Amino acid sequence: MTLRFDDRYMFRTALDGVHGLDPRLHDSMRERFADIRAEVARRTTAGDYGFMRLGAQSGLVRRLNQWGASLRGRFDHVLVLGIGGSALGAKALLNALKGPAWNERNAARRDGVPTLTVLENVDPVTVHDTLERLEPRRTLVNVISKSGGTAETLAQYLIVRRWLEDAVGDAAREHLVITTDPEKGALRAIARADEITAFDVPPGIGGRYSVLTAVGLVPATLLDMDVVQLLAGAEAAVKAAEAPDFSANAAARYAAWQWQAQSSRAANVHVVMPYSDRLKEFAEWYRQLWAESLGKKLDRAGREAHRGPTPVGAVGATDQHSQVQLFIEGPFDKTITFIRVLDTVNLQPIPSRATLGPELAYLPGKTLGALLDAELHATREALRSQGRMSMTLEIDTIDAHHLGELMMFFQIATGYAGVWYDVDPFDQPGVELGKVLTFKAMGREGY
Ligand code: PA5
Repeated sequence: MTLRFDDRYMFRTALDGVHGLDPRLHDSMRERFADIRAEVARRTTAGDYGFMRLGAQSGLVRRLNQWGASLRGRFDHVLVLGIGGSALGAKALLNALKGPAWNERNAARRDGVPTLTVLENVDPVTVHDTLERLEPRRTLVNVISKSGGTAETLAQYLIVRRWLEDAVGDAAREHLVITTDPEKGALRAIARADEITAFDVPPGIGGRYSVLTAVGLVPATLLDMDVVQLLAGAEAAVKAAEAPDFSANAAARYAAWQWQAQSSRAANVHVVMPYSDRLKEFAEWYRQLWAESLGKKLDRAGREAHRGPTPVGAVGATDQHSQVQLFIEGPFDKTITFIRVLDTVNLQPIPSRATLGPELAYLPGKTLGALLDAELHATREALRSQGRMSMTLEIDTIDAHHLGELMMFFQIATGYAGVWYDVDPFDQPGVELGKVLTFKAMGREGY
């Protein structure tokens, strides 16, 4: 694994001597980890941790390559319709691997690779404005829903299908690709009836763990991302998480310290704060993964427990001027996970000017990347000096391999955390309840 993990500042000996975790936890957690690992292994065999096998998908990659090649040059825009786990992964991939300004580039600056728009919400103004902006004749629409019946996505589909048909008539089906359950659901039925190209969401993998299935890999292929490297990175994270020694297993330690921070130090808020604009959507993706997996009413024995941390996404240095005041001086109820990216440190030299006063003389000759990195270190030190717990993940660069590794790292950590929190990290009964009540409110038959 190329990802480096530093958990020093979770412990009171490295903080102010008062706050933070007791360093003796290292020993007790190391001992308990054997049971946690055994349980995860047992449940993996039973099919629960299916996402951990996603590094090896040569059949899907072959199909995606052929299909992607057959479409090259045909579309200027990809429009994803999906919500929650069926949307956040694609947004994180786009932001990280193509950059925040990708859709603002002209076709030449994109080398003919399409733009990507993800419609999640059913806010009518957003949908209207998006469809007004895109040219349907040059747009490929990827409808994504694991269940195939989510109201938001299916309502969007009906509107977008009409929009396509108004522009291209019966050829609309060639502008559609569906990603859904292999057998069940309304979307699968539509794909069959209208002979629309379809990809499967593997049944054993929940929405928020699905970015490395066709859910994320179809948009990734259309955007010419390196799918092979994404999966290779994920595989590297799986291998690293197989380490039987707790001290050598970063995903296990991450999960254990987050749980300990909440259960023994009342740190209910878990902030992830990358110092990179390209990981802003990644932080949003993490938010859903951590919240929906660990926020549960029942423990695994079916007792009412109401567990779960509150994840927060932040971006450095921007949020130093927004949320960090609270992180440093507010209640002692948070952990902060920094993500540091090394290869931007020497980018964007800051020029000098003849008229520059002495108070700005420290800037010329440095780089913006160095300023950003100094801000990370300064914030971490400010937190540390005030007894605030933090961990740091460091990656050399943001490419497909590192992103796949980072995504799988957090998925595995979430799986481990489920065992520590003693909840099922793979169900979402609260979300399902909301879906059922929406169906009811909208008069769906049978609800
Ligand atoms: O993680 C999950 O399971 C959810 O957030 C789903 O992704 C979300 O509710 C959308 O569901 P579906 O993909 O079935 O449309």
